[in-house]
Amino acid sequence: MVIALAPLGSAMVEGWSRRDVELRSRLVFRSIRDQVAAGLVAPPGFDLAPFFERLSEDERILGLGFCTEAGTLRYATKQWPKAISCASLKRDRTDSFATVTDQGRRIHVSVFPIAAGPVTGHLLLLHDLAFADERARDARFYTMLSVIGVAAGLGLLALAMVLALQRSWVRSVRTMVADMRTGGVLDAAPSGDSPLGRELHGLLEELRVERTYAEGIHVEWSPKTLHRLLMEELPGAEVLVVSNREPYIHNRVDGAIALQRPASGLVSALEPVMRACGGTWIAHGSGSADRDTVDRNDRVPVPPGDPTYMLRRVWLSDEEQDGYYYGLANEGLWPLCHISFVRPIFREEDWRRYKAVNERFADAVVQEADRDDPIVLVQDYHFALLPRMIRARLPRATVITFWHIPWPNAETFSICPWREEIIDGLLGSTILGFHTRFHCNNFLEAADRFMESRIDREHASVTLGGHETMVRAYPISIEWPPSALEGQAPVADCRAAVIDRFGLPPDAHIAVGVERFDYTKGLLDRIHAVDDLLGTHPEWRGRFVYLQAASPTRSKLGAYSALQAETVRLAEQVNARHGSDDYTPVVLSIRHHEPTEVFEIFRAADLCIVSSLHDGMNLVAKEFVAARDDEQGVLVLSSFAGASRELSEALIVNPYDTRSMASAIDAALRMSTAEQRERMHLMRDMVRQRNVYRWAAQMLLDAARLRKRARILAGAA
Ligand code: F6P
Repeated sequence: MVIALAPLGSAMVEGWSRRDVELRSRLVFRSIRDQVAAGLVAPPGFDLAPFFERLSEDERILGLGFCTEAGTLRYATKQWPKAISCASLKRDRTDSFATVTDQGRRIHVSVFPIAAGPVTGHLLLLHDLAFADERARDARFYTMLSVIGVAAGLGLLALAMVLALQRSWVRSVRTMVADMRTGGVLDAAPSGDSPLGRELHGLLEELRVERTYAEGIHVEWSPKTLHRLLMEELPGAEVLVVSNREPYIHNRVDGAIALQRPASGLVSALEPVMRACGGTWIAHGSGSADRDTVDRNDRVPVPPGDPTYMLRRVWLSDEEQDGYYYGLANEGLWPLCHISFVRPIFREEDWRRYKAVNERFADAVVQEADRDDPIVLVQDYHFALLPRMIRARLPRATVITFWHIPWPNAETFSICPWREEIIDGLLGSTILGFHTRFHCNNFLEAADRFMESRIDREHASVTLGGHETMVRAYPISIEWPPSALEGQAPVADCRAAVIDRFGLPPDAHIAVGVERFDYTKGLLDRIHAVDDLLGTHPEWRGRFVYLQAASPTRSKLGAYSALQAETVRLAEQVNARHGSDDYTPVVLSIRHHEPTEVFEIFRAADLCIVSSLHDGMNLVAKEFVAARDDEQGVLVLSSFAGASRELSEALIVNPYDTRSMASAIDAALRMSTAEQRERMHLMRDMVRQRNVYRWAAQMLLDAARLRKRARILAGAA
């Protein structure tokens, strides 16, 4: 381009220069014409030559001369070029111009006709065109320079635009990738709506969904990402939850209605999920003021004050509750599934009630479902028969059943008189979830042993009567960040408050245990370990207290009331043995503790003891970790709680081994703050990543995949 523009520029300049010279020549001619004419007719002896010489002193005029009519050159100035003669020029009646080259020099010749009386001829005016050549050269140079300058400017501008565009692209792509990592929202395509942007957006979106399907662990699961997953993977899906325990209990206390959040791992896990997903939660209305707070369809929007989902209450008579809840569920299945050496009790009447209550909840599901294909999340051992009943009523429903307690080995399970019915009921589920792979395997084993079913161990599924149930491990967890941590005072203040409330020695090392009064939790074993610690390490006497916050539960049952009485008796014994008038080593707080108080207790503690004899997961362990945003405190955790698979930085203990549990408590009390921080940091990271939103998301993603597959198969058929 530069090469094309440069000659054009110089040609233009040369044209201007020539016109300029012609104009100049004309002006000169006009101004000297009369003098020259006068000179031509002057008397002999007058010479025009000196006049011409003077004029040629002008730096541009190279010479002047006069051509007679006969073609003779007269009065020519001294520097007259040899190449120019009158004969070589065209001499007309009009002005004419020519360019002549003399010794490599270009000369412009202007020829003007002139008449003075009888004398006629032509005045020749010569101009050196060297200045024009110089101008053309300059023009070429400046044209090139400006073209290069403009090109460079445009180039720089383009570069700046490309860099800015690239930076904004990189920023958008980074944001999208970060969103993808955290499972967040891919809001906009980079660079607006460009085809490339849309393409990249689409690819990242596909990648995000694939990754989410593949693992989900790197996604920062939150209510937002869970909600988004529902919108994207299960658009328009209706979510129903069924559990025995309700998330909000209304009780009448001194004539007024009081709200209670039950002490239930199931509730603490599912409630934040329902807050994120919306839908309807169907549960037993067990509060004394529950009936006063529902509408005519037995529904109440919750959470109170900021409702995001509907709670539908189902009323049970005392007989129903005795047979289904206390009887079959808690005297039969609970001890059957937990290895805690309490003999399961199976009564025919309880079984009958259990079946009937399951039917009632199946009816409630149908009543609450607005569509024929809802996603029903059936919770726990209270509803083993419900999945099959829902399948019979709503064949297109996706039933995800989660068994919150362990599943025993086939040998142990075989003692249940209704083992086939229970397995059959569960196999009405689309997906059946347990906390651990181990419990899944136990279930597959039982299905294999007691049912005419096909077991696919590679895909972990059971097919019965043409219906396939996926059996999967989904380790349950807690919300992150936990709402009970909101507004908590600094750890030192929590400690002061707890010391004050429970009358603990001001400088005591505090160990805590928080649970329902349940024989699976190993409460007695823990107090035995404290007894052992104070016996073998007397230096802790007066400097160590164990605070047990225990909520009464299922107190109607002999095993539970006996445990409570036994715990009180044992605590008194230990206190008598190691305590004094102003020192009580074991402090029991037997009442309901709301989640915020539980978190305050966790924050006040130097260590937390979770000594379950057998537990599906145990969320207390995870809550303790979540409460310690100061990264201090030690977790002593039973190897028989599912949580020990994930929280391996805890001090893992065998609760049946009293001496080693006492040693673990001693080690926890002596652990440096640096080591506490290291362990707590890793455990907090684990709970944050594997929070309850991830638990729900994994089940919902599996459900979404199965629903898509079913649609494809239906289409193909
Ligand atoms: O572990 C099973 C479970 O349902 C937990 O989710 C919960 O902590 C506990 O049992 C609740 O028991 P209940 O509802 O009988 O008080």
